[in-house]
Amino acid sequence: MMKGLILAGGLGTRLRPLSHTGPKQLIPIANKPVLHYIIEDLKNSGITDIGIIVGYTEERIKHIVDSCGDGSKFGVKITYIKQDAPRGLAHAVYTAKEFLGGENFVVYLGDNIIGEGIKEYVNSFKNSGFDAEILVGEVENPSMYGIVALNKKGVIIGIEEKPKNPKSSLAIVGVYLFKPFIFDIIKKTRLGKGGEFQLTDTLRLIYKSKRYKIKAHIVKGWWDDTGTAEAVLRANHLVLAKLKHRIEGKVEKNVSITGAVHIGKGTVIKSGTILKGPVIIGENCSIGPNSYIGPYTSIGDNTTMINSEIESSIVLGSCKLDFNGKIVDSLIGKNVKILSRNKMPRGYKFILGEHSEVNI
Ligand code: G1P
Repeated sequence: MMKGLILAGGLGTRLRPLSHTGPKQLIPIANKPVLHYIIEDLKNSGITDIGIIVGYTEERIKHIVDSCGDGSKFGVKITYIKQDAPRGLAHAVYTAKEFLGGENFVVYLGDNIIGEGIKEYVNSFKNSGFDAEILVGEVENPSMYGIVALNKKGVIIGIEEKPKNPKSSLAIVGVYLFKPFIFDIIKKTRLGKGGEFQLTDTLRLIYKSKRYKIKAHIVKGWWDDTGTAEAVLRANHLVLAKLKHRIEGKVEKNVSITGAVHIGKGTVIKSGTILKGPVIIGENCSIGPNSYIGPYTSIGDNTTMINSEIESSIVLGSCKLDFNGKIVDSLIGKNVKILSRNKMPRGYKFILGEHSEVNI
């Protein structure tokens, strides 16, 4: 049986300050952690024996409320595998050698969301005749990814990690299908960029070898690597675009709702509020009076919003917004307060953690 390996040991430095307090793989997209999309995609592809590589993230991923636990709530079995330090993706895969135990497997980077899922690639891999298969997709900023060059027949003719002068704009999407021979090649992989054992270097050894065959699939539909705030917001747009209208909370009189809106249990939308979908609001929130939530916004549980406007943003939860202005394109962590200051001396008052960013 094919196994799954999710790599969730990274530090998420590009997502600071959010990654200071929680693993990036648990950042919610449409109020659901990225890691849950991945587990569901693997399950949907028939893979129920899943390893998760964890580092400093271990306790958070296992135990916090919206974490994955033993996997039973998803109908899968999860084994946690500890990587001693973030020493690169190839090193992370090697750490799981014993767990993978000679089976074919899928490596799924813990911050990737694949719009259409990976089922068809998983199904075709077994009998495809290739030893390794990867997914690739067009990107606008190729120097931020592993880049693959293909010839006219779609055969790989170059692979490089985050090249300064990219030979194509086809990026390696964070899903790799491998047969167990891969461990021999990882052993031959030298320390690469950033002092890490890069999986991209392992892939290059495969395509250069005469013995093994590797294929790249150009991914259908959208995919996103939620490694930066911009990418997280983009993924939120893409997922919310398919949101189903569902109202489980209470909507007071004189509230205007257009488009698909999901309102969770125990949430109250107060009078004078405008909701323009797609918008998802979690449980036990109090929204309004006199507030506006515009398209592509996700509001996490236990959030209070009074006399405020927000659109195209993510609020993780347990936040208080009482702000006399409009918040746009923002990613707001848990337990954050954004308040208007109505007392002297006039001015902006900030209490911000390390790596915070404010644009006024
Ligand atoms: C990693 C890989 C890169 C790949 C990317 C996709 O980069 O090293 O080859 O294109 O994931 O998400 P990272 O996001 O860890 O910088």
